[in-house]
Amino acid sequence: MNTELLSLLKKRRSIYNLGKNVTASDDEIVDLVENAIQESPSAFNSQTTRAVFLFGENHDKLWDIVVDRLKSEVPTEAAYEKTKAKIASFKAAYATILYYTDTDVVKKLEKDFPLYADNFYDWSEQAQGSATLNAWVSLADNGIGANLQHYNPIIDDLVKDAFNIPANWRLRGQMPFGSIEAPAGSKEYMDKVDRFKVIK
Ligand SMILES: Cc1cc2nc3c(=O)[nH]c(=O)nc-3n(C[C@H](O)[C@H](O)[C@H](O)COP(=O)(O)O)c2cc1C
Repeated sequence: MNTELLSLLKKRRSIYNLGKNVTASDDEIVDLVENAIQESPSAFNSQTTRAVFLFGENHDKLWDIVVDRLKSEVPTEAAYEKTKAKIASFKAAYATILYYTDTDVVKKLEKDFPLYADNFYDWSEQAQGSATLNAWVSLADNGIGANLQHYNPIIDDLVKDAFNIPANWRLRGQMPFGSIEAPAGSKEYMDKVDRFKVIK
């Protein structure tokens, strides 16, 4: 069996120690990730996933928004110090991709295909997963580390205003990426017999 893709999938990990030592140009990265998202499947080829690339001061601005917004959510000053350190690790990355779902497209599908109406939002989430994974793997293939964060929905309005995001785009994830300054930790796997059934 050909296992090239499998090796690549194993290369993709959540990298939390990210830096700015990226040699690829911003345009190359954008092109790579745009293509990875474009090649990802979606129900009815509805292409509901949107992405916003934040570089330089815009990347910094995002993580400043997050750390400020979290202040009122964290119960103690000591806990907030930990939060600040965590957010600083994302800000230390090179750039961030924001992932969105275009809810207008989902609503139109629900209206146009009432038989499947209950499925379209779930399918948009599955399309998010496909797109996010493909982007993540494409970055890993190029030696660029990434992780996936979810500070939505508490940051949604602030981010929408800061980056002029359309009102019908719903924020689904934040992916800081950059140079791999330390490898991922070990990963535990469930026993395959508890997870898979092969019925012949
Ligand atoms: C849908 C989804 C949501 C996730 N949310 C977060 C998150 O909010 N914060 C985070 O640090 N990691 C998040 N992760 C990363 C997982 O924790 C990680 O993929 C998992 O522990 C396996 O580790 P690996 O990515 O190194 O293979 C998320 C992953 C997925 C697929």
